[in-house]
Amino acid sequence: MLFEQITTGGCQSYLLACPDTRAAILIDPELSQIDRTMGLAGQMGVHVRYVLDTHTHADHFSASRELGELLHAPVVMNRLSPAPYAQMRLDDGDMLIVGNLRLRAIHTPGHTRDSMCVVASDRVFTGDTLLIGGTGRTDLPSGDPEALFDSLFGKLLKLDANLSVYPAHDYKGRSSSTIGAEIAENPRLQKTDRAEFVAMMQQLDLAAPTHLTEALRTNMNGGKTVAQLLSEASARVPFIALEELAARIGGNDGGFVVLDVREKDAFDAGHVPGALHLPRGQLELRVNSMLCDPTVKIVTCCEFGKISTLAAATLRDLGFVRSSALDGGMTAWREAGYPLEG
Ligand SMILES: [Fe+2]
Repeated sequence: MLFEQITTGGCQSYLLACPDTRAAILIDPELSQIDRTMGLAGQMGVHVRYVLDTHTHADHFSASRELGELLHAPVVMNRLSPAPYAQMRLDDGDMLIVGNLRLRAIHTPGHTRDSMCVVASDRVFTGDTLLIGGTGRTDLPSGDPEALFDSLFGKLLKLDANLSVYPAHDYKGRSSSTIGAEIAENPRLQKTDRAEFVAMMQQLDLAAPTHLTEALRTNMNGGKTVAQLLSEASARVPFIALEELAARIGGNDGGFVVLDVREKDAFDAGHVPGALHLPRGQLELRVNSMLCDPTVKIVTCCEFGKISTLAAATLRDLGFVRSSALDGGMTAWREAGYPLEG
């Protein structure tokens, strides 16, 4: 088996492939690692046939939808997944064939209703059902400690003790464990009495994950993260450096417009000399009366250079094909000591 573990913060993703046929499957890919994952698949010379999420993640942004599109591979999830972009839904016991590899899905609800573990010859990908020295939490949407007890003690821990365990998260830099080692050492698995296990899970009192609502919105419904919207806009907008803009202002160039898209108080407190003011919220409504020439060179600016990137992308959509954004925004402009007009 060709095998790569991709670590991002505490998230673990996996690329495994059949060495004979070069067919591959991606498990739990993460959004910020799309380029790296695509690069890795290319470097390994493999063809990704499936992109699989072990469950609806509440604590990382899944790249499955986007990678599925880029790789022309179906997104595979459990039958109970709410994600509208899951094209292949697995039942307990269903098997995927990837070249000469056989991957068997085991439905293991508990962390979420739609959690599953995937067994591939000598290893099992446990998602957040079983972590190294821990288990997934059961206090997030669709979590259920009773179901987790059944999934662990009734299913997962009955597998071959020699199977390697590869979880969807590890926050301590460990790459894998084994079923046997977890049965022996995992503190949570020492609670073999159902009532005691459930009580322990209910008393964990964990803080909510940092991006819970954004992760659920994107992973459950196929929406985009704010970072994704920005990255897509950045990919189709050129930027102007601070020094480039500084050299151009005051040049009496009628074909060059600085458009400040912040709110009025921020604009009034200090803007690039000669800048026009058009808040982002009014952009589409007022742009026609403000900018008559669609061939004009526009540099949008905002406080940090993010909203202005979205504004420049919108202007390009509207036909202002020479729109660009100020790299770093007004914060960087001020810090660099360039002139302000108030
Ligand atoms: Fe999770």
